This record gives sequence, C-alpha cells and structure tokens, in this order.
Amino acid sequence: GSAILTDSFSRLHTYLRISLTERCNLRCTYCMPADGVALTPGGQLLTTPEIMRLARLFVEAGVTKVRLTGGEPTLRRDIVDLVAQLGRLRTPGGGGGGGGQGGGGGLEAGQAAGSDSLAGRGEQQQQQAQQQQQAAGVAAGGRGLSSLAITSNGIVLARQLPALKEAGLTAVNISLDTLRPERFQVLARRPGHGRVMEAIAAAARLGFDPVKVNVVVMRGVNDDEVADFAELTRAQPVNVRFIEYMPFDGNVWSDSKMVPYRELLARIAAAFPDTPLERLDDPRGEVAKNFRLRGHVGSVSFITSMTQAFCADCNRLRLLADGNLKVCLFGASEVSLRDALRGGATDDDLRLIIGAAVRRKRAAHAGMFELAALPNRPMITIGG
Ligand code: GTP
Ligand code: 5AD
Ligand code: SF4
Repeated sequence: GSAILTDSFSRLHTYLRISLTERCNLRCTYCMPADGVALTPGGQLLTTPEIMRLARLFVEAGVTKVRLTGGEPTLRRDIVDLVAQLGRLRTPGGGGGGGGQGGGGGLEAGQAAGSDSLAGRGEQQQQQAQQQQQAAGVAAGGRGLSSLAITSNGIVLARQLPALKEAGLTAVNISLDTLRPERFQVLARRPGHGRVMEAIAAAARLGFDPVKVNVVVMRGVNDDEVADFAELTRAQPVNVRFIEYMPFDGNVWSDSKMVPYRELLARIAAAFPDTPLERLDDPRGEVAKNFRLRGHVGSVSFITSMTQAFCADCNRLRLLADGNLKVCLFGASEVSLRDALRGGATDDDLRLIIGAAVRRKRAAHAGMFELAALPNRPMITIGG
C-alpha cells in the first residue's frame, strides 16, 4: 500500500521525478555552474534495469506519476526503450499515448544494456526484478501509472517525440527562457533557439495538450519578455509557466534577480489592459497557479517556489541519476538506493529504506535566504 510513501506530516508522495543523466547539451546559467560539474562516473549511474526495478517498486507503493528529467533526459541513449518499459506500468485508459502494447524489443534492449555492468548476485536479482516487472503494471499493488511525463530543453526532442509518444509518454514540458535567438545563446551558453521552438510546435502537432513551456524569469536578464511570452498563448495551445528563480549550488542566485509572481501578474495585466486575466483551477498535485487571458487558446501560470512555497502539499520524490533518493528539492537529505540495490537488498529492504527516508522529510523548506545558504547540489544534477 501507500504506507511507505506517506511522511510524518501525512503527505502522500505519488509523483516520482527520475533523473536519467547528469549531462546536458546546454549550459543555462541558472542551472549549470560556470565551471561545469564533476560528472558521476558511468559505473555509479543507475542502469536501466535498476531504474525499472525501483520504478516498479515505487508504482506498486502508490506512485501514479513519473516525470523524466536530467540534465537533459533525451541524451540518455535508450530513452525510448525506458519509456516503453515504464509505459507498461501504466493503467489501461490512464492518459493518452500509445503505451501498453506488450512485448516489444525495448525490454530486451534495456536488459542487454544493463547486464554487463551488474555481476553475481546482482544479476540474479535483476532477473527476478524482470520477472516481477513483467507481471507488474496494473497487477501491482498500486493503481499503476496514470502519467508518464518528460521535462526537456527541446534541443533534440522533436526527432524523438513520435517514438516517445508511441512508447507511452503522456505529457511534455519544455524549457525556454527567451524568444530572442541572440539572447538564448547568452542564457544557455549554446545556440539552439530555433530547435526549441520546433520542439514546442512538434509536441503540439502530436497532440500533447497543453505543451507546457517553462520560463525561469530573471530580473535584468529576460523579464522584459514576460508580455511576449503571454502573447504566445493567444493562438497556440501552450501553457506558459513563469518560474521564480531559485537558488542552487553554483548558480549565483540573488533575491534581486528573482521576480516575485505578484509582480509578474501585475505586469501581464498591464500589458493586456483590455483582456481580463482569469484564474483557472489548479489540478491537484501540481504546483502552478493557472490563469488565462480571456479568449486566448493557451494559458499562463506561475510557479511560486520562492514567494509562496507549496511544501504543505508536496507530493514529490526524486530519484537522481546516481541512484540517490532525494526527498526534497532543497537541502541535502538523500539516501543511496543504488548502494542498497548493489549490496543485495531485497524489495522489502528497499521498501524499508525508502519509507525511512520519506519519514525523515521535513515539514517545509526554510525561508528564501536560508535556502540560498543551505548545502545542496547544482540544479543540473537534480533535474528540477
Ligand atoms: P507538472 O507535472 O506539469 O506540473 O510539471 P512540474 O512543474 O512538476 O515539473 P517541471 O519539471 O516542469 O518543473 C517546473 C518547475 O517547478 C521547475 O523550476 C522545478 O524546479 C519546479 N519544481 C518541481 N518540483 C518542485 C518542488 O517540489 N518544489 C519546488 N519548490 N519547485 C519544484
Ligand atoms: N530556478 C527555477 N527553475 C529552474 N530550472 C532550472 N534551474 C532553475 C532555477 N534555478 C527549471 C528549468 C526546467 C525545470 C526542470 O527546472 O527551466 O524547466
Ligand atoms: Fe540543461 Fe535544463 Fe539545466 Fe538548462 S536547465 S542546463 S537545459 S538541464
């Protein structure tokens, strides 16, 4: 049941973010430290069978939503296979996409990819895990996955998207912080603006609705584009989400660069004086405050991590690429599920370790300034 996913403040964690890689093909200043990050050696990253064993366990325990992150998740070579395997943990009828067809070459490819890096006892467990996994999905103790999502920078996404959708992907969020190509190159320290715009269009064409566009707003950097982003929603089925800039290791955050959501709201209202900005419902378990400019096809939202934290309703856990379970986006409270797995832990052992970590989760993160001082990781190794 969901006992292991309930913390000591009665919060049930039904949303697992899985980071598939620490690598990225961009270098966004708010995410990647200027001197880069020390990448975890390959052998210490979770293999695909290891990810699947843990994902199945989480889904059996009650996780209903998985989001794939990075670094940049599309850089993981076997991402389509992985999505196909995760797709088999989905409930029938839960969300769109073409997942759920059995068989497929994905599983075999995933097994082969992982098997050489595991040895001895690990191999036996892996086999066991695979058998259970095949029997898992809806037959599992949980309700199964209803949402299988990705957050991508859009650089190489468009090409992979049809296969990902076919494999069972149900939702796409794309990061884009500027509508100006020259500025993109400054912010991301790499070119690629056109490719991201193409990815957004491709996702919309494939029927992902809405395509969520994540905009991290930074004062003096891109805050002059807020109205232009809102204008995008007039005719396109996109949900533009303005995100308050958050502090992470190496991203030289300052409160003066963070634009509070109240200010953003006022600016949009001022930019569209004849168009009412109407509040929409906020789906359960999502962190954005949603609005629509009357008559627009798309919508605008605000993710108010800094000025109105949503810790009280937090439903998220994170499985990092190195196998650490991180119970809060902030702070350094982590436990290595990889070490447990490779040390021969049974599923029951893993459930105990996960349950204990979840129960250690704090009620709320500290205020904005404490946060900036709290030891954490660089964002690129967390994935949002
Ligand atoms: P939906 O599932 O579509 O609601 O997406 P999401 O907002 O959960 O995920 P996404 O990867 O698009 O992240 C958008 C922003 O929300 C990023 O800036 C994340 O860092 C931030 N975010 C995600 N989870 C948390 C969280 O638990 N706490 C805080 N403070 N911010 C979060
Ligand atoms: N503050 C707020 N959002 C951030 N993201 C990355 N770094 C930060 C930050 N410092 C966002 C990315 C991506 C999502 C996973 O997290 O733009 O859309
Ligand atoms: Fe890469 Fe995303 Fe971080 Fe930018 S925000 S450096 S695209 S992982």
